[in-house]
Amino acid sequence: MKDRQKQFIKHLNLFPKQVRDTLRTVPVQAGWLNAQQCTDLIKNPGIDLEELMVRLLPLAKIYAVAPVSRFQVGAVAMAGAKGNADQIELYLGANMKFMHQTLNYTIHAEQSATMHAWHRGAQLLHAVAVSESPCGYCRQFLNEFEKNDEMAVATPVREDFTYRKTPLSALLPEAFGPFDLNNQSTLMPISSPDRRLRLEVAAKDRTISEALLAAERSYAPYTKNFAGCAMQSVTGKIYSGRYVESAAYNPSLTPLQTAILCMNMDTIGEDRSIYRVVLVEKPAAITQRKSVELLLGSWAPRINLEYFEAEE
Ligand code: THU
Ligand code: ZN
Repeated sequence: MKDRQKQFIKHLNLFPKQVRDTLRTVPVQAGWLNAQQCTDLIKNPGIDLEELMVRLLPLAKIYAVAPVSRFQVGAVAMAGAKGNADQIELYLGANMKFMHQTLNYTIHAEQSATMHAWHRGAQLLHAVAVSESPCGYCRQFLNEFEKNDEMAVATPVREDFTYRKTPLSALLPEAFGPFDLNNQSTLMPISSPDRRLRLEVAAKDRTISEALLAAERSYAPYTKNFAGCAMQSVTGKIYSGRYVESAAYNPSLTPLQTAILCMNMDTIGEDRSIYRVVLVEKPAAITQRKSVELLLGSWAPRINLEYFEAEE
């Protein structure tokens, strides 16, 4: 873990002096830049937001957890308040792989950056920068977001930070998406903020209530298997994760995966040991339980999953 901090400092020194102080805050504030910081960063070297995103990719890559292939991918999501272009924030993300598991649990950098933004309350996804060309699975995953036809993907072309910007609609022509399944909701704003799930024990326990809240805010329009996880770290911090579905089903992420990616972005150099993990779900034709238990077996082998069913 300390290696990641060292790598971060090394990369930071490659940036012009005048932006280093702002960038130094990235790991301290869990891998994102607020609107004011973004404005400051593009002003000084006189670059546009997309170029800033591309320049941040080497920093995002440092967050990769890639014990299987050592292939590190970084991504940056540009998101912000709905209808307010001045309120743009940037969220970093990186790929994550899990030892002693099938490849199916792999989290792609694009998923990590966009889910990071969603969990922090971003309202609308405007663009994503990726250090590699986005794979088909990620193009499909991105197609779940609101206004996806306006969304752009930026990839670096050369070391001098020139980049290619392509609308998602061109990367995924003749797309299959939410509308093909008659789903009128889209991903990013809290999909259904009025949804309430009932679970009595949540009132007395903060970790359970965080998992319940994550379940209420999850995106499960196809199965209604609303689900959320909360992980309590040994340092006492709680990281929650919402279940997210894709119209093509397979790019979906379990709530444990989204909790893990949020924790990963908040712990560049610290201990990531976990003390408790709670899963709350509203059972449907499918369940998150077995899958979450399996993944937990590799992420925190000594922890038993605490499982609760909530009612709508
Ligand atoms: N990867 C991404 O993170 N994004 C992409 O779109 C391309 C592939 C990651 C997944 C896996 O960890 C590694 O790169 C090899 O495929
Ligand atoms: Zn991908």
